[in-house]
Amino acid sequence: MSTSIMPTTTNDAVAATDFLPLLGTDYVEFYVGNAKQAAHFYMTAFGFQALAYAGPETGVKDRASYVVRQQKLTFVLTTPLQPTGYIAEHVAAHADGVKVLALAVSDAEDAWQQTTTRGATSYLAPQHLTDANGEVVLSGICTYGETVHLFVERKNYTGVFMPGFRAWSNPHFAPLPTGLLYVDHCVGNVGWNQMNKWVAFYEEVMGFRNILTFDDNDISTEYSALMSKVMSNGNGYVKFPINEPAEGKKKSQVEEYLEFWGGEGVQHVALATADIVRTVTDLRSRGVQFLQVPTTYYDDLLARVGKIDEDLEPLKALGILVDRDHEGYLLQIFTKPVQDRPTLFFEIIQRKGAQSFGKGNFKALFEAIEREQEARGNL
Ligand code: FE2
Repeated sequence: MSTSIMPTTTNDAVAATDFLPLLGTDYVEFYVGNAKQAAHFYMTAFGFQALAYAGPETGVKDRASYVVRQQKLTFVLTTPLQPTGYIAEHVAAHADGVKVLALAVSDAEDAWQQTTTRGATSYLAPQHLTDANGEVVLSGICTYGETVHLFVERKNYTGVFMPGFRAWSNPHFAPLPTGLLYVDHCVGNVGWNQMNKWVAFYEEVMGFRNILTFDDNDISTEYSALMSKVMSNGNGYVKFPINEPAEGKKKSQVEEYLEFWGGEGVQHVALATADIVRTVTDLRSRGVQFLQVPTTYYDDLLARVGKIDEDLEPLKALGILVDRDHEGYLLQIFTKPVQDRPTLFFEIIQRKGAQSFGKGNFKALFEAIEREQEARGNL
């Protein structure tokens, strides 16, 4: 068993040699069966605000896209308008889920050159999109499954989202935000023995580093197991843990995902908050459902993690988990899948110094996931 921890913060030497400087996550795009309703869900349940729209009314013939935003979090919900075409095929194969993890860059042409010359498969050669508000440059590469990374350069753009979109709002419906701030990390599930291949991809093609490794001894219950490596870009703004299933007595949650998604894809997106008790209370009252750990989890919590600023009772009432590393602690909780297939879910995370991922919670958490798998007949 090995867990290696290296600093996630960059230093000048790393920054100077970073061939793919990333400014952060620009947006996450979901391909869905009904973007109008999906956008309503993220506004109503998660507190996102309407921002922009593209569709036939804006000259886009094959799709409708709704952009919703909360602080630095931007989600794009896209649906096909015709029964055929690559978006329709994606939705038919996978149902609703993440297609694009878009990364903000200052030079999208250079990002594409740097990555494709290092072996990335091009998804989108650099394109200059212009309107009266300026120019957005987009380029993209393929990653695991049918997931893609788009590089978004918007330093010369002042419009609401990008060319092709128009401002969208509903003066009669504006749910309050829930305190969600930005994407903390996005996790990919890959196939058997594929984790190291994708670790090498992020290292060689995108210049990321492996900052944490969890083997199947770290992440196993009596029944099932998985392995995970956390990849981080140079400045630590973008973190992509990569999971693969491991052998256990029963079916790993990663296997269940691969089966129902129909291949490799994004398992969860972690959303940061500065007040997890407030955020989760709010989300729960709006109908978001969370995984529950047994209340015995809290019996020896403070003995495990030491002193924390929060009162224990609200954490226990909401089912919020706590873990500590050498830099501090973190609070986290996981939603149930947000569609009928047991595929994409969200993590809500509040970091108080800790830069890790809640290893101390894995066992309680995976046992909670297994209870859900068992209820679905998939364990
Ligand atoms: Fe996570």
